[in-house]
Amino acid sequence: MDTVLSGIRSTGNLHLGNYFGAVKNFVKMQHENKCFFFVADYHALTTHPKPENLHDNIRKVLSEYLAAGLDPEVATLYIQSDVPEIMELYLLLNMNAYVGELERTTTFKEKIRKQPENVNAGLLTYPVLMCSDIIIHQADKVPVGKDQEQNLEMARKFAKRFNHMYGVEYFTLPEPYNFGEELVKVPGLDGTGKMGKSEGNGLYLADEPAAIRKKVMRAVTDAGPQEPNAPMAEPIANLFYLLELLSTPDTVKHFKDSYNDCSIRYGDLKKQLAEDIIAFNAPIRERIHEIYNDSDYLRKVVKMGAEKARESASKTVREVREILGYRPF
Ligand code: ADP
Ligand code: TRP
Repeated sequence: MDTVLSGIRSTGNLHLGNYFGAVKNFVKMQHENKCFFFVADYHALTTHPKPENLHDNIRKVLSEYLAAGLDPEVATLYIQSDVPEIMELYLLLNMNAYVGELERTTTFKEKIRKQPENVNAGLLTYPVLMCSDIIIHQADKVPVGKDQEQNLEMARKFAKRFNHMYGVEYFTLPEPYNFGEELVKVPGLDGTGKMGKSEGNGLYLADEPAAIRKKVMRAVTDAGPQEPNAPMAEPIANLFYLLELLSTPDTVKHFKDSYNDCSIRYGDLKKQLAEDIIAFNAPIRERIHEIYNDSDYLRKVVKMGAEKARESASKTVREVREILGYRPF
């Protein structure tokens, strides 16, 4: 059985892209592997969130993942800042991470460009903290999106370097994990590209029905098919992609047939799509609200998660200290 681990950014809500591209797979994976999922709330500090928002962001993300099906009894679900051992390992790993290689990381270079007024050392050593997150539980597999692949490569490099420096086969080298062959890429409704938070085109699990209707009705379309069986332009293909993900096969067939015989009215398709998204979201949205407002339950979840995570993390830190030469008096 593999140990699978993934960090969840504590900024922003879950959209359908996150759900179908990642979370749905986490939910499935938790039954087949030893899974660690955590809210990366220390990483979030690199952008200086306001103290009055920090807790609420964490609470929201946690509620959404629980509502989407992560089971804290099955997976180890915790908050990064509840596990101080991660920070100790981070400090130790920092001694063997070199400034030059950290400066060359794409994510760091991007941050310099995006926030030149706040190029803090936490940004520079972001990959070291991420490495600590991963190897502290000896994770074999890390499901990450494209933008995180280099950070994962650095985690492998630091783990390998540690083993080499101290002549041990201690740390497991983590591998990126891809979810099967049919990689889901949920498109946005703005004609081209994927759905994403930074793209500003997200359909969120927590969106109210009115918000979904509004976003879907505004989706980009074209003048309609000009001849039977016309090829589909990207914005239309994107609408059909969402329809296939969220509607019944009958509905998909109905609109495909009407596209092919040129009788389609995009307004009807959008109305149907919006209602199907709303129906899909409804039970999850309800659970998000329930969980978010249930402090007793959340307290129980994070306590249990911290205990499980600290058990595994403290074992690693104890062993690493020994390898480094710390001895009891
Ligand atoms: P965002 O910033 O848009 O929320 P992230 O880059 O944080 O997205 O991605 C978090 C996870 O969700 C990643 O594993 C990524 O692969 C997945 N994901 C994000 N957007 C999509 C999408 N449009 N289609 C499929 N998967 C997606
Ligand atoms: N950096 C990741 C992101 O931005 C979040 C993250 C932090 C992470 N630590 C991790 C992901 C460890 C995987 C493993 O999405």
